[in-house]
Amino acid sequence: MTEQQQTIDVNRGDPAYRAWLKEAVRKVQADANRSADTHLLLFPLPERWGIDLYLKDESTHPTGSLKHRLARSLFLYGLCNGWIRPGKPVIEASSGSTAVSEAYFAKLIGVPFIAVMPRTTSPAKCRLIEFHGGSCHFVDDPRRMYEESATLAAETGGHYMDQFTYAERATDWRGNNNIAESIYQQLRLERYPEPAWIVATAGTGGTSATVARYVRYMQYDTMICVPDPENSCFFDGWTRRDPQACSERGSRIEGIGRPRMEPSFVTGAIDRMMKVPDAASIAAVRVLERTIGRKAGGSTGTGLWSALRIVSEMVAEGRKGSVVTLICDPGDRYLDKYYSDDWLAAQGIDITPYTATVEDFLRTGRWPA
Ligand SMILES: Cc1ncc(COP(=O)(O)O)c(C=O)c1O
Repeated sequence: MTEQQQTIDVNRGDPAYRAWLKEAVRKVQADANRSADTHLLLFPLPERWGIDLYLKDESTHPTGSLKHRLARSLFLYGLCNGWIRPGKPVIEASSGSTAVSEAYFAKLIGVPFIAVMPRTTSPAKCRLIEFHGGSCHFVDDPRRMYEESATLAAETGGHYMDQFTYAERATDWRGNNNIAESIYQQLRLERYPEPAWIVATAGTGGTSATVARYVRYMQYDTMICVPDPENSCFFDGWTRRDPQACSERGSRIEGIGRPRMEPSFVTGAIDRMMKVPDAASIAAVRVLERTIGRKAGGSTGTGLWSALRIVSEMVAEGRKGSVVTLICDPGDRYLDKYYSDDWLAAQGIDITPYTATVEDFLRTGRWPA
C-alpha cells in the first residue's frame, strides 16, 4: 500500500459553502437581534376574583405568529446541521403559519421555499407565503402533507424541514429567550409572578414542549394545559397513552389539532388536556375582540376558552393566582372563516350557547356544569 492510499480524506468543507453558511447564520441571528420581545397583555377579569389572566401576544412577530420563533430555530438547526444548502429549496408541510415564517427566512438567506399545505388553508396565509417569495403546493388529504413534502425534497434535491419532527428539539428549551423564559421575565413585577397554569395549544407540540420543559427545568410549580380542537387525535392519544391514535379528518382550527400523534408532541410533559368544541373556540375569540379590541386566529380562541375554564375553577375554589395563554396569530388571516357568519352557517357551527357561557361567566364567575 502506498502512502497515498493509507490516508483516506473526504473533505466536504468547501470554503465557498462555508462562507455562504456563515453569512446565512449571521442573517438569521441578525434578524433576531433586530427584533423586540412580544407583549404580555392583560385580559381584564373582575377585581374581586383576585386572578390575573395574561395573553402572550405572539402575533406581533415580524411574520405575525408564534411560528416566527420556530422558523428561526428550524433554519438555524437546518443550516448548522448542513441540511440547508445554497440554491436548494426548503420544503415544509404546514397548515400555513409556519410556512409564512419559513418563507420569510428562506428569502432572507436567498433559498427557494415551497409550502405543502391542505387545500383548505386560508387564502390570506397563501398570499403571505407568496408575498415572501415562497410557493404553495396543495394536498386534498391533510394526512398526505408529510409524504408529499418528502417526495418534493427528493425530486428537487432540497431539504424537507419537517417541523412536526424537529420543532421540539430545534428550540432551546432551557432558555435563550424562548417563549417560556420571556413569559417569566415579563411576570417578574406582577402580584403572582409564577402562574398557576400556562395554557398552550398544539400543532407540532413544540410550544407546549418548550414551555413544559422550561417550567420543570426551573423547578416552578406551574401546570401546563393543552386544549385540543375537534378532529384532532392529540386528546385521545394523550388520555389513552396511545401513540398510534389518529383521526380521519383535518382540524378546522388552523394551526392546531393533528390527525396523527406528532413526534414533537411530548405527552409526558403535559399535566392536563381539554377537548374544546370548535364553536367554543370561535365564540371565545370573538369575545376577545369585544374585550381587548383585537382580532386573533381560531387557536387563540381554543386557548382562551380553556384558560377561562381554568379561571372558573380557581374562582369556585376561592384560589388566587395567575394564568397565561397565547395570542398565536392575528384574526385578519381568517376574516372569511372565523369572523364570517356565512362560513359558520356553512360549517353548521352555532356559537350562540358558547358566547353566552363566556359572557355569563365574566359577569357572574359561574361556569355552567
Ligand atoms: C395559529 C397557530 N396556533 C398555534 C399553533 C401551535 O403551535 P405548536 O406547533 O408549537 O404546537 C400553531 C402551529 O402551527 C399555529 O399555526
